[in-house]
Amino acid sequence: MNKEVISLKEVKSFQTRSEEFFPINWYKEMLHHNPVYFNEETNTWHVFKYEDVKEVLSNYEFFSSEGSRTTIPVGAKNKEGSIPDAVNVTMVDPPNHRKRRSLLSAAFTPRSLKNWEPRIERIAAELVEDIEGNSTVDIVQALAAPLPSMVITELFGVPIEDQSKFKHWVDILFQPFDKENQEEMELKKQAAAKEYYEYLYPIVVEKRSNPSEDIISDLINAEVEGQKFTDDEIVRTTMAILGAGVETTSHALANTFYSLLYDDPSLYEELRNDVELVPKTVEEMLRYRFQSSKRDRTVKKDNSLLGHELKEGDVVVAWMSAANMDGDMFDDPFSLNIHRSNNKKHLTFGKGPHFCLGAPLARLELTTALRTFLQKFSRIEPVESFDLEKSLTTSAPGQSLTQLPIKVYK
Ligand code: HEM
Repeated sequence: MNKEVISLKEVKSFQTRSEEFFPINWYKEMLHHNPVYFNEETNTWHVFKYEDVKEVLSNYEFFSSEGSRTTIPVGAKNKEGSIPDAVNVTMVDPPNHRKRRSLLSAAFTPRSLKNWEPRIERIAAELVEDIEGNSTVDIVQALAAPLPSMVITELFGVPIEDQSKFKHWVDILFQPFDKENQEEMELKKQAAAKEYYEYLYPIVVEKRSNPSEDIISDLINAEVEGQKFTDDEIVRTTMAILGAGVETTSHALANTFYSLLYDDPSLYEELRNDVELVPKTVEEMLRYRFQSSKRDRTVKKDNSLLGHELKEGDVVVAWMSAANMDGDMFDDPFSLNIHRSNNKKHLTFGKGPHFCLGAPLARLELTTALRTFLQKFSRIEPVESFDLEKSLTTSAPGQSLTQLPIKVYK
């Protein structure tokens, strides 16, 4: 289904890119003064508190994923660029959601994860190996951007030399629409979707005869209540996986390095001395530095679950990144603290039936990348000339780092 995209710029227009990169002051203001807010311009509700966000994301009896408006620009409108209803997991509620998710879950089992671990370690090691010691490196180009697309290319089981094509398709397909260039962007997206489709379809057909240890083969073998994916559905399902899993993970990794340089410069040494702290660090980074996580739902039945009269058809946007800073849930929420006991309770991966299917993979990529980097470099430092405002661009989850120079020491 092609949904109308709601422009969040009309809900909150940030003065600078840096402000949008870390909208902590806006979150503070909304959490304290406007926790459930109706925006007239876009005709949408917005919720910020932890319990409300949880409710909206998980109570599918009242808050549906099936509405006709969304805040998330995905895919293109042609056949190749859209996800067929039969396999679309994100825009459907239980009970239909359950079967579709079970089919997709075949590719994300704990067994798959064990199998993927050495492959992810190898990719991280290769990328880190290429970073010269005692130099200045752009960590976005060297690690944060390529790692997730290399991992997904490897896990799809397609030739690794094609990973830059994947990155290119992802960049185009999941770029948000700007009102000014909507038509031009749609055509670009359709062309990218067609190219992607034509590239992957023969690979899927070939894997049906020669399956191997990869996500595409797992999707070919998946069967739930007698239902299986067709080749066409697999190609388009992989596109949805790319959309969900590449840019998000890049963003989380780049922001982690930003945080190590600018939020708490003493943390790097602490982690070097105890790499066991890496998983907790990753969770705290997802809580504190994944600044733009939000999801929309449409009210299914009139209710007052959020303390306001909500009518069927109303759109509600749940701001997970703001909920991650709710003082009723996290002590001293506006500071970065890798030792907090409940940092894994963040809502960055969502909550309820749609909880991120790729969360274990994302966690594995993030911990592996950070651990591998820590093993090689004894110290990192910011580069004085770095200008945050000039190093951010608009991307699928909000303002993202396009570059982040770091001085690295062996
Ligand atoms: C830091 C990285 C990531 C973040 C922050 C993230 C975040 C999310 C969130 C918030 C949702 C819930 C959507 C909703 O409630 O409507 C979600 C769903 C999903 N994610 Fe992720 N994700 C990440 C990485 C990944 C990766 C690596 C993959 C796979 C390769 C992936 C695959 C999915 C899928 C398939 C869904 C749909 C699940 C469903 O609707 O049942 N994600 N993700």
